[in-house]
Amino acid sequence: MDGAERWEEGGSGPKRCFGNATHRRERHSVVVLRQAGDYPRNPGGNAMSKPKNQYAKSHGAPKAKERDQKVCIRFKCTVMNTLTDVLRRRPGWVEVKDEGEWDFYWCDVSWLRENFDHTYMDEHVRISHFRNHYELTRKNYMVKNLKRFRKQLEREVGKLEAAKCDFFPKTFELPSDYHLFVEEFRKTPGITWIMKPVARSQGKGIFLFRKLKDIMDWRKDVGRSDDQKDDIPVENYVAQRYIENPYLIGGRKFDLRVYVLVMSYIPLRAWLYRDGFVRFSNTRFTLSSIDDHYVHLTNVAVQKTSPDYDPEKGCKWMIQRFRQYLTSKHGPEAVETLFQDVDNIFIKSLQSVQKVIISDKHCFELYGYDILIDQDLKPWLLEVNASPSLAASSQEDYQLKACLLEDTLHIVDMEARLTGKEKRVGGFDLMWNDGPVSREEEGIDTSGAGNFVANTHLGCDNDRKKQLRQLFRSLHNQKKVTS
Ligand SMILES: Nc1ncnc2c1ncn2[C@@H]1O[C@H](COP(=O)(O)OP(=O)(O)O)[C@@H](O)[C@H]1O
Ligand SMILES: [Mg+2]
Repeated sequence: MDGAERWEEGGSGPKRCFGNATHRRERHSVVVLRQAGDYPRNPGGNAMSKPKNQYAKSHGAPKAKERDQKVCIRFKCTVMNTLTDVLRRRPGWVEVKDEGEWDFYWCDVSWLRENFDHTYMDEHVRISHFRNHYELTRKNYMVKNLKRFRKQLEREVGKLEAAKCDFFPKTFELPSDYHLFVEEFRKTPGITWIMKPVARSQGKGIFLFRKLKDIMDWRKDVGRSDDQKDDIPVENYVAQRYIENPYLIGGRKFDLRVYVLVMSYIPLRAWLYRDGFVRFSNTRFTLSSIDDHYVHLTNVAVQKTSPDYDPEKGCKWMIQRFRQYLTSKHGPEAVETLFQDVDNIFIKSLQSVQKVIISDKHCFELYGYDILIDQDLKPWLLEVNASPSLAASSQEDYQLKACLLEDTLHIVDMEARLTGKEKRVGGFDLMWNDGPVSREEEGIDTSGAGNFVANTHLGCDNDRKKQLRQLFRSLHNQKKVTS
């Protein structure tokens, strides 16, 4: 049955079962209809019902009422970390392996590249990436889209609005923009640049430089013999202005990892998570040793290989602690301005790709934003990740990621519990819904002219458990009234 949910009477009430997602050519005509409890807990014979992760413990474990689910959702997932734990313990969700049909797939981007175009998906099916997510998540495309959007704003709205896009460091793609880069390089002698491969992560392949000779390999056609031109081309990189004055805490550089969930691009509907973390470098900041990755790259993957890395202490702060720290140093107004500037980064970057990304109702995406703050409290966007790490480096980290994923699944709402009017679900606040979303505080709506307050709470209290309890209780009561 194409494109429709299936309802079946029986047992304690109507039971909602789903169709399927399969490769177009292999699509099965039979849809299995079963109650959640009918599924074997352990279909593959593996110890699946027990979380394998060392930090795993039950987060937001289902209450008796929540367990009373009428849905059965077949999920697939290729990674083994916090995500698997969260999916496996979700009431009514059942894991499928290999070629089995699925309703929900947390896929990796390589699967998407190879299979998305050949996969048939029923109406209800959801998948964890947009088809051309790379328009935002590859470093060169992100900058290209932001530059284009800035020009468009300048043309259509004016210079002031366009200037709100000035949150990414000057960037050139190499080798294609080599000549333009050299022009810029000569205009600003003595500064530091950073070279980053366009599509790698975890700090891999990155280096800092101050001399053109360090990037000889990216010289476009210059000095290359015809033989060399046939060689394997160099990997595409971006050369980006290095932020030489990062805000330091205890003499160390850091950047922020923040999570944004996009449910749709047209209209743009995006949620911001209250938690996130600050990732510190393990070594005091200095510009005198540009080759030392432990000083300049704040990726956890880099820092944890440092000889004096202490796994107990780690190199992370929760973003709440950071917000409090800044407030004590600079006062609440300066911090409010900083966090508003961070919100602006999310919105403008998403708008810059809004018309480019293929907005498909089957897709959602949980982005990991990397943001650096400088000594003037200006935030800079370094990159947006399509597959932010979901592996946990500590108990606190596990807790954050497990809750983040649970709340993501609440919003994806395979169980069809939400009304669509929610402004908050767990730790997520609706930040943009085809326009800015106003905050409601103690029943006061701030949307009126002059007193608009954005509905974002990055680094604020995250009382998600209480909120979820209230939300699901009120949804349950509404359903009772209408049925
Ligand atoms: N323009 C920049 N100025 C200062 N530091 C930077 C800049 N770009 C990147 N970094 C540092 O390098 C790290 C890795 O860069 P990023 O762009 O996030 O690439 P990756 O995909 O490898 O994580 C960042 O977390 C940050 O610490
Ligand atoms: Mg990064």
